[in-house]
Amino acid sequence: MATIFSGMQPTGGLHLGNYLGALRQWVKLLNSGEHKGIFCVVDAHALTIDYEPKELLARTRETAMVYMAAGIDPERALIFVQSDVKEHFELQWYLSCVAHVGELTRMTQFKEKSEQHESVKAGLLTYPILMAADILLYKATLVPVGADQVQHLEFARDTARHFNHRYRADVFPEPKPHPLTLRIKGLDGQAKMSKSRGNTISLLDPPKTVKKKIGGAFTDPARVTRDIPGTPEICNIYTMHTAVSPPDKVTYVAEGCRTAGIGCGDCKAILLESLEVELVPIRQKAEVLAREPARIDAVLQDGAAEARKIASATMREVREVMGFNADTMGAPPGPVQAGSQASPRPGSAPIPPDARGAS
Ligand code: TYM
Repeated sequence: MATIFSGMQPTGGLHLGNYLGALRQWVKLLNSGEHKGIFCVVDAHALTIDYEPKELLARTRETAMVYMAAGIDPERALIFVQSDVKEHFELQWYLSCVAHVGELTRMTQFKEKSEQHESVKAGLLTYPILMAADILLYKATLVPVGADQVQHLEFARDTARHFNHRYRADVFPEPKPHPLTLRIKGLDGQAKMSKSRGNTISLLDPPKTVKKKIGGAFTDPARVTRDIPGTPEICNIYTMHTAVSPPDKVTYVAEGCRTAGIGCGDCKAILLESLEVELVPIRQKAEVLAREPARIDAVLQDGAAEARKIASATMREVREVMGFNADTMGAPPGPVQAGSQASPRPGSAPIPPDARGAS
């Protein structure tokens, strides 16, 4: 069974972009019964953006809650927090020794984000290495992400290849994105929907708020008045229709927009109906889960315990091919002292007498 792995930063208030671009695909893939699902709340990645330490734990729990509310069943998939599994950070360092700086500086997200700061933190540059470690640690082959993360995924694939080539070992399979990747623009119609841009519809926004936000959302700028035809393909409302509306409604709004048969208000009203079909059950489940924080914590604890098992098995392999002591619980590395009771490291050859004590 192929493993799917994906994650989200606990930035608080997961939004429609997160849901339509990624979370909904996770649920569909998991429900197909063809995949083993591992879903992570990537709290360490969130250090690359401004954050309030006192809020991080609550946001981490809220993110896990939304995974569950959206349909990730912890009985059938692992849900855990990145910082609970230390192997992610160990592997990140090892991968950083096979990854290329040139590949990192080419990342669009790095270029965009580094332009916003005078002094760029190293974590912003090495962010994709941690993401590669997240994926490769679980030997995931399918990684459902939104369009904005596909480049990082390609980096993970290249890094897997560099590692396997350097150590002449077939440790990591190459992860692939889901063939259908979406990019949902924000309500401003300009940039991608993103918490930092304040252009989002939160998955847990009440219906009234969603209605108000959709009502004010940017559409095809050509449609200044109702009788001017538009181009659905350039309109973010239409992109959302393609993600959530039934095919007959998608055709109806596309035709209506091109022929000016319907106005943007009509198109938005239909979108709102389709969105509510998706959002109502998520809100309802989230409301129940929010009253059960201990249940979420238990899911995260169990998830971390299971994730650690997989991660430590992979790290054994990694350490072995890299020439480290694979058994980190074994004897400490270093020459065996004469008369010492310590057993040599597994697989280590006896130290020739003339090499002992050589400086
Ligand atoms: P993050 O937290 O920014 O976003 C989480 C997921 O939501 C998708 N997404 C979108 N999709 C479409 N339109 C949008 N406007 C939109 N906004 C967000 C993202 O593509 C992503 O799939 N680096 C990742 C988190 C990560 C990860 C991983 C993902 C860390 N390690 C390993 C997969 C595998 C990120 O920043 O996602």
